[in-house]
Amino acid sequence: MSRTARAHTNIALIKYWGKKDAKLRLPLMSSLSMTLDAFYSETKLTDASEMSFSLNGVKQEGPAASRVFNYLKLMQERFGVSGSLAVESINHVPTAAGLASSSSAFAALAAAFADHYQLDVDRQELSRMARMGSGSASRSIYGGFAVWQKGSSDADSFAYPLVESPKMDLKLLAVELNDQPKKISSTKGMEASKTSPFYQTWLDRNDQELADMEDAIKTGDFTKLGSLAELNASEMHSLTLTAQPGFTYFEPDTIKAIKLVGNLREKGVECYYTIDAGPNVKILCQSQNCKKIINNFETAFERVKIIEAGFGPGISYQD
Ligand code: DP6
Repeated sequence: MSRTARAHTNIALIKYWGKKDAKLRLPLMSSLSMTLDAFYSETKLTDASEMSFSLNGVKQEGPAASRVFNYLKLMQERFGVSGSLAVESINHVPTAAGLASSSSAFAALAAAFADHYQLDVDRQELSRMARMGSGSASRSIYGGFAVWQKGSSDADSFAYPLVESPKMDLKLLAVELNDQPKKISSTKGMEASKTSPFYQTWLDRNDQELADMEDAIKTGDFTKLGSLAELNASEMHSLTLTAQPGFTYFEPDTIKAIKLVGNLREKGVECYYTIDAGPNVKILCQSQNCKKIINNFETAFERVKIIEAGFGPGISYQD
């Protein structure tokens, strides 16, 4: 009897934004993330007469289902197993979060696959498996802070835990300004960004940025962590603006939110932003300031939903 696998989403503080191998999802840079307690996916596989995929109880067809079926075929080839499978997933990632769910979705799918076929895989192997579904999923195998080392091949491109139960006071506020699906997927956006004249600089800075972020985590330096995360996110988004042709994930409200974070900081409310492949803003702050920041955002924006998250755990299984 297969168990349900649960994986939490993660937010990258040092971002993955570029592949050197699209099929294997090998990245051009290492990345570092915080796993979040508030958002997770649960997935269960059962033997069936044909492949099917249901998400939140609704049968999926089209590109979302194809991506899951192609992934399952890839994993079946990798492990020499076969059979049709029914995939049942529940996403506990409210649209209000404005957080992409592919990190938790593919981490849970990889773990459910390993459990279903009773594969003898450790977490490192599980991370490699999740990576092939969606790069960011490689990091959702672990709780706390995780690093995805870029490696040079399938064998050494996996995530490992940096600190699994951090003592640091760090919160993430997921601010939903816009609930429209993103127009340019991460996969497409990161490929297009390679045409930016600053792309090589982005790659050249990766080692140092990662080392600095690891140092901020080890010393519990929130100011350093927040400033570095904000800078790294801005670098990533500058690649989209300077791509040929240029594009942006930002909407007018994204800029308004960036400015509000700056204003709050000037007033002594320490907070920093990070932004993924969409218009929504995530704010890094410490417990004492969460309320104040939420109040300020609710005053500044007419329709805004904010969810507070702390550190989440790694993969787990439920009977
Ligand atoms: C901006 O992991 O969604 O969130 O490997 O193409 O599925 P694919 O990309 P995905 O990209 C995540 C991009 C990001 C940064 C990050 O999570 O590191």
